Amino acid sequence: MLKKQQSKLVVANWKMHGCLTSNDVLLHAFTQRAVTLEPQVRLAVCVPYPYLAQAQNRLTSTSIEYGVQDVSAHTHGAYTGEVAASMVAEFGATLAIVGHSERRIFHMESSELVAAKAQRALESGITPIICVGETLDERQAGKTNSIVYTQLAAVLDRLDDEADVARLIVAYEPFWAIGTGQIPAVQQIKQVYGAIRAQLMEKAVNIHVPLLYGGSLKPDNALELFSQSDIDGALIGAASLSAVDFLEISAAVSIALSENQDDSK
Ligand code: PGA
Repeated sequence: MLKKQQSKLVVANWKMHGCLTSNDVLLHAFTQRAVTLEPQVRLAVCVPYPYLAQAQNRLTSTSIEYGVQDVSAHTHGAYTGEVAASMVAEFGATLAIVGHSERRIFHMESSELVAAKAQRALESGITPIICVGETLDERQAGKTNSIVYTQLAAVLDRLDDEADVARLIVAYEPFWAIGTGQIPAVQQIKQVYGAIRAQLMEKAVNIHVPLLYGGSLKPDNALELFSQSDIDGALIGAASLSAVDFLEISAAVSIALSENQDDSK
């Protein structure tokens, strides 16, 4: 039997935003609030590289996890501007987003490159959050499932060991929903989730890989999404730059989890 994830993970993706002062304000608010949430709510923040030491300083003795938004596909060497997963791990980071659509589209990252990045993260003890998702044109052409399948297959094909599959997190983020205020219907998300789940089962039958959703998540749509038991969490961009919004979203997760627990009694 596939073991269901009992917790939900809420990841702030700060993208290229922030400064030491504003980060401090946000991290302070997040840590204050984290202790009031259901223990199964996991909060995490993925920061720009220069702020990794700040995240380490502020978050090490808290329950909030932290990580980065990309890692190199290489272990080390003459790759100017690149940052290795092992370097990130030295700062206590546990998560790395890989294959975000802003990197696939604006930096031409192929699924094979993303897969190599995921592998480098795993080798350094970092959990890769693999982003997959279609553009609007691809959705309208009926290609959503095949695009997502190909993106994820590149990663799964590289992993021989089920133990590595068990350490993955997958985030479904339709590109057309990112930063646009448009959000897919719950049924559309579930349909893609069903396909991803089937693909993961082909590779590792007994493993529950957490599936996150990302794209225009806000306090007013969070509860509906998190109430779906198959949505294991979220990747949050714009709303994670506002302490009020991010904490309201986290509170919605907490409510959804406590309602789920009541239902299962
Ligand atoms: P958004 O971004 O919440 O601003 O839409 C999500 C993401 O890109 O991860």
